[in-house]
Amino acid sequence: MKLCMIGTGYVGLVSGVCFSDLGNDVICVDKNIEKINLLKKGIIPIYEPGLSELAVKNYKNKRLTFSSDLKSAIKKCDIIFICVGTPTKKNGASADLTQVFNVAKEISSSINKFKIIITKSTVPVTTGDEIEKIISKKNNKKKFSVVSNPEFLREGEAIRDFTFPDRIVIGTDDKRSNKILRNLYSPLISKGAQYLSTSRRAAELIKYASNAFLATKITFINEVANLCEKTGINVEDISIGMGLDKRIGSRFLRAGPAYGGSCFPKDTKAIISTADKYKTNLSVIKSVVKSNENRSNILLKRVFGILKKKVKNKKITFLGVTFKANTDDMRDSSSLIMIPELSKKGAIIKYFDPTGYKKEFKKIKNVSYESSIKKCIEGSDLVIIHTEWNDFKSVNFKNLVKGKKPIIYDMRNIYSKTKINAQGFKYFSIGR
Ligand code: UDX
Repeated sequence: MKLCMIGTGYVGLVSGVCFSDLGNDVICVDKNIEKINLLKKGIIPIYEPGLSELAVKNYKNKRLTFSSDLKSAIKKCDIIFICVGTPTKKNGASADLTQVFNVAKEISSSINKFKIIITKSTVPVTTGDEIEKIISKKNNKKKFSVVSNPEFLREGEAIRDFTFPDRIVIGTDDKRSNKILRNLYSPLISKGAQYLSTSRRAAELIKYASNAFLATKITFINEVANLCEKTGINVEDISIGMGLDKRIGSRFLRAGPAYGGSCFPKDTKAIISTADKYKTNLSVIKSVVKSNENRSNILLKRVFGILKKKVKNKKITFLGVTFKANTDDMRDSSSLIMIPELSKKGAIIKYFDPTGYKKEFKKIKNVSYESSIKKCIEGSDLVIIHTEWNDFKSVNFKNLVKGKKPIIYDMRNIYSKTKINAQGFKYFSIGR
């Protein structure tokens, strides 16, 4: 089939490349001409393991093309995916749908035959209705259908999550569109993906509710970890014990720093904002947002305790600063709270990240990037493991550290306390 992906961010680029790898003809469109020119040269602007190879392969076999000419791409394609950004509004709550509605207007003036218009971006309940209104101003309703098909991929695992999804959610009442989309996704369905056909609004809400629930699960285990630290219990035992209950499940029960990323913070606030609009109080999700926002302060208090409240001039190392491993994404990373706070207290901070220097710390006093783990921990008083990169799991501190041994604060529980203590290092972690 001929597909048009509008927007070449994580969702649009990954799904566009993966759809082309399934044998479809895909045009990825972006208004950012520089980005399109880079993509044509095989330069992928996002850090996503395996994406570059897949993009180059399908670009070479001409199934995948890049363009900034939206009108012509829409005219050529049968299925149009809206994959533009829906960031949190400046008011800090609801989703900003400016890009979505601008694209809907563009589509509206380019319909030359029956089109299926799909929102793959995460959009609030009733957005599909709004898009339908915009397009039907200029087009007969028989000439198009608006469908919700949310994406559930995780950064760093995006290709795997697209290729082996637990479920494909299709929100439409239009039988013709359903048939076409079931056919489009048949290669994934044949590999075991569940195909769920539901109403458009239900599909829109499933996405927000799923992310809000995952954020709740993480916040739940993070708060249990706080109790474990007070009662000498290993939170990992609790995660295992809980996870063996199939109703709970073992995934997303790893305690750590505050959750971050481009989705959980944005989507939890957006679903609360939608509910407020309908005079419905999502008190559980509100408490999750509040708890997560406070989590960095809890971990910082722990740091001050470890350093016996003497932070000024202390040398602190951060291993990893992105919001999680296997991504270069800094959005809502807890390091963006912790590092400036420690700098304000007079600490001298060095950081290493496998994805390199971060402009976010450019203006923060006494924060510098080191290009190797060894250089980063040299002379340090405290080493903080902020992300769970594999690069950090094999670090042998005993060999790396000559002279004064730093304290280690493992915020991702990637090390064994026994082993690190045996090497002569004081060791702290989360919920253990
Ligand atoms: C998330 C959803 O998982 C994905 O389905 C949706 O499409 C987009 O949002 P992403 O934000 O890329 O994906 O990352 P994810 O792996 O979910 O992690 C989100 C945050 O939760 C990170 O800060 C991560 O460190 C944290 N996390 C995750 C935990 O602290 N513990 C866990 O067990 C899992």
